Amino acid sequence: MATKKKKVEFVCTECGGTTIKWAGRCPHCGEWNTLKEFVVESGSASRFGTDKHVRQGLVSASEVLDLGEVQAQEVPRIITGFDEFDRVMGGGLVPGGVALIGGDPGIGKSTLLLQVMFKLVRSGVKALYVSGEESAGQIAMRAKRLGVEPNGLRLMSEIQLEKIEAAMLAENPQFVVIDSIQTLFSDGLDSAPGSVTQVRECSARLTRIAKTAGITLIFVGHVTKDGALAGPRVLEHIVDTVLYFEGDTHSNFRLIRAFKNRFGAVNELGVFAMTDRGLRGVSNPSAIFLSEHKGNVPGSVVMVTQEGTRPLLVEIQALVDMTHLPSPKRLSVGLDQQRLSMLLAVLHRHAGLACFDQDVFVNAVGGVKITEPAADLAVLLAIQSSMRNRALSEGLVVFGEVGLAGEIRPAPRGQERLKEAAKLGFAKAIIPRANAPKQPIEGLEVIAVDRLTDALAAAFD
Ligand code: TYD
Ligand code: MG
Repeated sequence: MATKKKKVEFVCTECGGTTIKWAGRCPHCGEWNTLKEFVVESGSASRFGTDKHVRQGLVSASEVLDLGEVQAQEVPRIITGFDEFDRVMGGGLVPGGVALIGGDPGIGKSTLLLQVMFKLVRSGVKALYVSGEESAGQIAMRAKRLGVEPNGLRLMSEIQLEKIEAAMLAENPQFVVIDSIQTLFSDGLDSAPGSVTQVRECSARLTRIAKTAGITLIFVGHVTKDGALAGPRVLEHIVDTVLYFEGDTHSNFRLIRAFKNRFGAVNELGVFAMTDRGLRGVSNPSAIFLSEHKGNVPGSVVMVTQEGTRPLLVEIQALVDMTHLPSPKRLSVGLDQQRLSMLLAVLHRHAGLACFDQDVFVNAVGGVKITEPAADLAVLLAIQSSMRNRALSEGLVVFGEVGLAGEIRPAPRGQERLKEAAKLGFAKAIIPRANAPKQPIEGLEVIAVDRLTDALAAAFD
C-alpha cells in the first residue's frame, strides 16, 4: 500500500509565522520554543482546492478575470444597532466577512457577542451561536442575566468541527459566532484541541464556508500566555478583521480596538462599560481615563490621544524615585517601554535632566494602551513634574512627539484634539508648532513649541 507523503511545516504560536525547519527560536518574532509542527496533508488538495489557498481562507477558485471587468460592489452592511461595536467593525457586519475577537479570559467576549446576536435576532437576522466552552444551560443563564428575550437565537454546544460544518449548512444562518476557536477539533487530525494544527485547520475550513455562503463569521480567541494553546495571532492573517479587548479587569471599562480591518479603519476604538446587565456602549468616552483626584498633583499630565476617528483624554502619570539598584528600573504600563528609555536619553541630552540614579515608572490611567508617539511630550512632562515634585499648571493638556534631536514633532489630527480638550474645559495646551491652529480656539490658550526645552519651560511657568 502506498503511504501518503506527509508534508509538515512549523508554525509559531506567538506570531503565526511559518518555517519549513524546526528551530528553537522563531525566525519571525524571535520568541523561544514557540514553533509547533503543522501537518499539511498532501491529499487535501483534491478535497479543498489547493491547500495553501484553503488555509488562507481565500474565496473559491474561479476563472482569471480582467480587473476592469469586475463590478466593484458596495457591500450592504448588517447594522447591529450596538453603536460602539458597529464602529469598531468599520460600520457594521459584512456578509462573508470573517472576524476574530481576542482577549484575556473573563474580559467579556462571550457577553458582548451574545448581546450582539440578540440585537441581530430581534432585527430578523438568522444567527447561530456555537459554544465550545459553555453548556446550553449556562448560556441560557447568561441570557437571563442580560435581561434579553431568548427566543430566536439558534444555539449549539459543540466542539467537533464536522458537526459544526454540517449545522452551518443545514441551518443556513447569516451570522455565526464560534466561541472559542481554541475548543474546536477536527476528526481528521490527531492533535489536541487548541493546538496550532487544529486551530488553523478548523478556522480555515469554517472561513471557507463563510466566504462561499456569504455568512458573517466571528471567532472568539483567548489570548494565552503559556503557549500551550495556539494564540489568536495564528489566525490574524486568515481573517478580515482582528479586534482585541483591552482594559484591566479591575475597572468597569472595556476597550475594543480594531488591529486589522479589510472593511474599515484600523485603530478604531469601541468603549464599553461592564454592568450587571452586560456591556453598555459608552458613546462619549473622552474623559473616562482621567483619574479622580481633585487639583493637580506632581507627576501627572493630561494628554489628548487620537484613537481611530476620535480623540480621548488620558492622564499620564510618572513616578521618579531614587533607586537602590545598580541598574535603575524603567517600567511603563500602557505605554511603550523601549520608547521610555529613549525619551529618558533625550531628556538628559537636551534638557540636562539625568535619571541614571532614579527608578522611573510611567502609567496611562485606566488600562488604556497608547501606542502613538504623540504621547512622548506628556511622558516627559510627567517625569519632570515628578522629579521636581511640582504640579503642572491647572487645566493643562499636551500632545506631541519628541524627536531624538530634542525637537517636538507634529501629531496627526491636531485640530480635533484641541477642540476636544477645549470642549472638556481645558484652558491651556502645549503642542507642536506644526499643529498650531490657524484660528484661535475659544477658551483654550495654545502654546506652540519647537523644542523640548521650550515645552518644559512653558509647563512650569
Ligand atoms: P465573559 O463574557 O464570560 O468573558 P470571556 O468570554 O471573555 O471569557 O465575561 C464574564 C465576566 O463578565 C464575568 O467576570 C462576569 C462579568 N459579567 C458582568 O459583570 N455582567 C454581566 O451581565 C455578565 C453577563 C457578565
Ligand atoms: Mg467566554
